[in-house]
Amino acid sequence: MNVRKLINLKEQGRRITAITAYDYSFATIAESANIDIILVGDSGAMVMFGYENTTPATMEEMLLMTKAVSRGAKKPLLVADMPFMSYHVSIEESIRNAGKFVKDSGMHAVKLEGDRDIAKTIRAITKTGIPVMAHIGLKPQTAKSWDGYKLQGTTYSSAKKLIEDAQELESAGAFCIVLEMVTKEISKLITENLSIPTIGIGSGQYCDGQILVLHDMLNLYDAIKPRFVKQYADLKTETLNALTNYKEDVVSGKFPDDTHSQSIDSSELIKLKKYFVKVNHAEI
Ligand code: KIV
Repeated sequence: MNVRKLINLKEQGRRITAITAYDYSFATIAESANIDIILVGDSGAMVMFGYENTTPATMEEMLLMTKAVSRGAKKPLLVADMPFMSYHVSIEESIRNAGKFVKDSGMHAVKLEGDRDIAKTIRAITKTGIPVMAHIGLKPQTAKSWDGYKLQGTTYSSAKKLIEDAQELESAGAFCIVLEMVTKEISKLITENLSIPTIGIGSGQYCDGQILVLHDMLNLYDAIKPRFVKQYADLKTETLNALTNYKEDVVSGKFPDDTHSQSIDSSELIKLKKYFVKVNHAEI
């Protein structure tokens, strides 16, 4: 997958699939499922590192996760979420940080949260050749300080602002735009008005593609349960059952048995026993 092919998918009307991943093993599985985009989201700060929200995520933590994911998946478009404050201080620092994800981590693109105020930064990063995915609507990096985790685009003025922000970010060079928790009518308007794809999360069925946080859809993380998530598997219960059974088996001596143990060659064992009889004058 690449940016050109992704934009073509919108033109062809083929819905785009995106998922988050944070490590090697899940990246290999997402690739086997032929997912179009893997986003190494800063949601990893919560589901992998246990922070309360995404705000504290650091460049070091994001680089660790992006490197692991790029070792596991080659075919999907790999997008790195730029953590809070890694693209706010100056254009130079933003470019340098974006470059680390592409040059050192094998990512193809970066994602930045923000409205038209970050258009300048998006333009500058795009000019270096690094594709940028924009992210509007609910912006988790700063939501807690403003009006919380609320549905976006519910009034005339907020909806008008979202539509204008999306247009400005497309003009700035964004190749794609995430719409998080935007009312479905406004997502539809934005999707119809842009030539770049929209990827929705909690934003209804009219976006060009969809993304979910992997740990939400697999029920691996349940500290927060957004209403819009569809649970496709219950790996929390599966894992809990597996670990409980494992503990029972080890304590009771059922595991490991002969099928999970390996033997020394019998002639070697005889030699060894003879040696110890000679040295100890006793059998072992
Ligand atoms: O960090 C993340 O996982 C995201 C997605 C929810 C789009 O930004």
